[in-house]
Amino acid sequence: MLNVFVTRKLPGNALDKLRAQYNVTVNPEDRNITKEELLKAVAGQDALISMLSDPVDRDVIAAGDRLKVIANYAVGFNNIDVEAASERKIPVCNTPDVLTNASADFAWTLLMAAARRLIEGDAMTRAGKFSGWAPELLLGVEVYGKTLGIIGAGRIGQAVAKRALGFEMRTLYHNRSRLPHNVEQELKMEYIDLETLLKESDFVSIHCPLTPETRYLIDRPELELMKPTAVLINTARGPVVNETALVQALKDKVIYGAALDVFEDEPQLKPGLADLDNVVLAPHIASAATETRTKMAEMVVDDVLTALAGGQPRNLVNRDIY
Ligand code: GLV
Ligand code: GLV
Repeated sequence: MLNVFVTRKLPGNALDKLRAQYNVTVNPEDRNITKEELLKAVAGQDALISMLSDPVDRDVIAAGDRLKVIANYAVGFNNIDVEAASERKIPVCNTPDVLTNASADFAWTLLMAAARRLIEGDAMTRAGKFSGWAPELLLGVEVYGKTLGIIGAGRIGQAVAKRALGFEMRTLYHNRSRLPHNVEQELKMEYIDLETLLKESDFVSIHCPLTPETRYLIDRPELELMKPTAVLINTARGPVVNETALVQALKDKVIYGAALDVFEDEPQLKPGLADLDNVVLAPHIASAATETRTKMAEMVVDDVLTALAGGQPRNLVNRDIY
């Protein structure tokens, strides 16, 4: 019987479909697996279902001597050495599409919370410090009709732009390649260079993958291009932003605020970040809606079933191996 290893318990009962045919082991720990544990666990496994927090690097892939498929329970796959997997013709899968709307909703949740100082207001109200309506209590910035800058205009970036239509915003985007004309028209997105996007946007939302090219895409010089009233939102990957530079820029009021779902050294925060009032912090939960996470589980399971049956899985990131 073939063996499947899953690094964390998943919501829903998608794994039952795998259990019907294969010997499935789920890491029993209620925490993320360490590299040492993963190195041991992956030996003799035919399939690996990994989390975005798992280091599926060259060593782990080498230790997975029988691996026939790696399915990452995430859309991002920067935690996997895809090149090492491709060298052994191991398909690597992810979970696009099913999390697009939940992720876009959450980017907007962060944007609104930062713009209107919701978290500060909640803390104040809970602490019994709300002493009555006041003309200047927790003044934020308006969202309606403002300019939104989207960095990375894939599925999620486009879904964020779609929501901006209702707020009648001007939407600028920066992407490796230009979107088809009909998409630009439908979503009212203007293709622009990064420098202009940073200078003109009131809200800058990041939706690009983490790659060598996008690491520290936003550093001190980029933050300095932004308006002093602007808000930076990151739901992509922490290292796209130099977090230490961001902390300093927030202290110096180079920008108005930031809202982050991802961090450079996740789950650690850079010193000073948690002390700032003008930042909204979330524990990497953009796709964390029950329906979404259940569909993601079904997706990784279906791809593992297909791959172990000798077929080509649907959500491949290294299609070139076939
Ligand atoms: C979440 O960050 C994902 O990549 O799915
Ligand atoms: C991820 O799904 C993206 O394409 O934005």
